[in-house]
Amino acid sequence: MAGNIKVIVCPDAQSVARSAAGIFAALIRAKPSAVLGLATGSTPEQTYAELARLHREEKLSFAKVSSFNLDEYWGLDGDHDQSYRYFMNTNLFKHVDIRPWNTQVLNGRAANPFLECQAYETKILSVGGVDLWLLGIGGNGHIAFNEPGSSVDSRTRLVSLAPSTIAANSDGRFFKDPAEVPRCALSAGIGTIREARQLLLLATGAKKASAVAAAVEGPFSPDCPASLLQDHPGCTFIVDKEAAAGLKAPRN
Ligand code: F6R
Repeated sequence: MAGNIKVIVCPDAQSVARSAAGIFAALIRAKPSAVLGLATGSTPEQTYAELARLHREEKLSFAKVSSFNLDEYWGLDGDHDQSYRYFMNTNLFKHVDIRPWNTQVLNGRAANPFLECQAYETKILSVGGVDLWLLGIGGNGHIAFNEPGSSVDSRTRLVSLAPSTIAANSDGRFFKDPAEVPRCALSAGIGTIREARQLLLLATGAKKASAVAAAVEGPFSPDCPASLLQDHPGCTFIVDKEAAAGLKAPRN
């Protein structure tokens, strides 16, 4: 199965961000009402900064764009400074002209998580599906909060975080103490993500090297959730040299 994922290796994280933002900008210019899938975490921060610059300096307009975020911590309000709604507002949404009502981030305090997840899936369908979904990858190969063991046809749902994810997200970049990290999240499923027309996964730094190698060159297996993108017809990884270090086959 391995082989379908296109891998672009860039010299550094800044050029990963520039390439990714360029792909988003080209889509939005070609289709102003594009439906974007978005991710949070450290990796896409520079991409969002570059998209904000393109809006400011090169008139890239998000006025007709709609967006769907991958996931949200269960139990956090959208105004909590570690919620993904807050992350998106501060890193991207407030810097561009996207309409707030066109931005979908799962509600981590919904009264009924099942209904919240169902409504999110219905909303994606109602706008015709996601054109391009930006993804990161966990050191354990997760995409969104689909931890190892998640099935290829999983849908948006309430999930538990793996201990390694709790540790990674409390290394001081986000939470300072593992005890502060919510144990659960609402997450788009792997099946949900795979329905996007194009997928763009970014990875930077040596900590991602083994997950990137497993995703691209390893077996198609829930042990590495990102490997479940191998048979997607439009999946590209943009990685820096450090994150590419575990790949055996030569790339660009
Ligand atoms: C975030 C998400 C996660 C991250 C992954 C990598 O919305 O879905 O899968 O993409 O944990 O996070 P960083 O970029 O912080 O290394």
